[in-house]
Amino acid sequence: MIKLENISVEFALRGPQAHAIRAVNQVSLHIRRGEVYGIVGTSGAGKSTLLRTINLLERPSAGRVWLDGEDITGLSGNSLRLKRHKIGMIFQHFNLMYNRTVFDNAAFALRVAGKSDKDIRQQVPEILKLVGLEDKAQAYPSQLSGGQKQRVGIARAVANRPAVLLCDEPTSALDLETSAAILELLKEINKRLAITIVLISHEMNVIKKICDRVAVMDAGKVVEEGSAFDIFATPQADFTRQLVAHTLNLDIPKHLIENIPGTVLKVLFLGEKAEDSVLSVAAVRFGITIDILHGKIEYIGSHAIGLLVVRLADLPPDTVPQAMATNYARDTTKRLNDAAQFIRDNANQVEVIHAH
Ligand SMILES: Nc1ncnc2c1ncn2[C@@H]1O[C@H](COP(=O)(O)OP(=O)(O)O)[C@@H](O)[C@H]1O
Ligand SMILES: [Mg+2]
Repeated sequence: MIKLENISVEFALRGPQAHAIRAVNQVSLHIRRGEVYGIVGTSGAGKSTLLRTINLLERPSAGRVWLDGEDITGLSGNSLRLKRHKIGMIFQHFNLMYNRTVFDNAAFALRVAGKSDKDIRQQVPEILKLVGLEDKAQAYPSQLSGGQKQRVGIARAVANRPAVLLCDEPTSALDLETSAAILELLKEINKRLAITIVLISHEMNVIKKICDRVAVMDAGKVVEEGSAFDIFATPQADFTRQLVAHTLNLDIPKHLIENIPGTVLKVLFLGEKAEDSVLSVAAVRFGITIDILHGKIEYIGSHAIGLLVVRLADLPPDTVPQAMATNYARDTTKRLNDAAQFIRDNANQVEVIHAH
């Protein structure tokens, strides 16, 4: 649907030490019809610049932009304007017309596209209903909350039923709860209107919520690309690992762990394994207790990632059933080691924080 082929974007910096900076460096991506595609990276990575090449708000210095099998890189004037009707865009700071009502903001793209007043009167209420602002048509943006302003931005961007919606940090100016509601709305629009979404964000948490596939950008380059689940579960590039570690962070103060008797493990379970009972089986089979010191289960789409910090310790002697006592009399260290090995064999990743 969208193909970026070897895209580079350079900016000429003026002044005494004039030189060019390469904001985007030979990026190739293929975004499929109907997906929500995320581009994540720290500030200055080149995400916005790359996104803006898709509707040619930014002209690549090299490379080609393909939309629906057509090379649009060279388009200008009227043919470019017509293409842009297929591509809506929303922004971090909404970019609304503050002296116009919500209705007029939403009607903007329809007017530009030459729709009749009759069509506009019919279509704007529909689109306002879709974004949950049916009762705000006559309000002005200044009377709205941040989340409502972004809903106006979305209404304006999708009023014309574009094939693609570009989202530049759409929730970065919003609080967590509002942000979640806006992401849900974007997902709904993706499904109901069959609009392909390209979303950029510096926050993995945003990407995690709605993206099917993800590209990770660092210093103008795409350093890794894959399904959202793979990016989170098995990040390959060092840079991605750091981003993911921030999101899945499960740090326990060191002094708390150091003084705990037993074996402490950090265990990662992916996908179906996250719902398996590996730990309870290990506890029973090796006659030990397993305490969860800290834990978190994340869902990427419908796949789970479980990250747990657990302590393995011997059963207190008086809790061992009489009939089993002889089995359990084996060396405690061996049982703890065997249990740790069993967990290692059945989990996706195990890190020994400290051993017995
Ligand atoms: N119009 C411009 N002129 C000069 N430099 C720019 C321009 N736009 C972006 N840059 C530079 O390009 C790099 C990437 O910027 P940007 O695409 O905005 O990154 P991101 O969206 O990932 O934060 C930055 O170093 C930024 O300063
Ligand atoms: Mg940006």
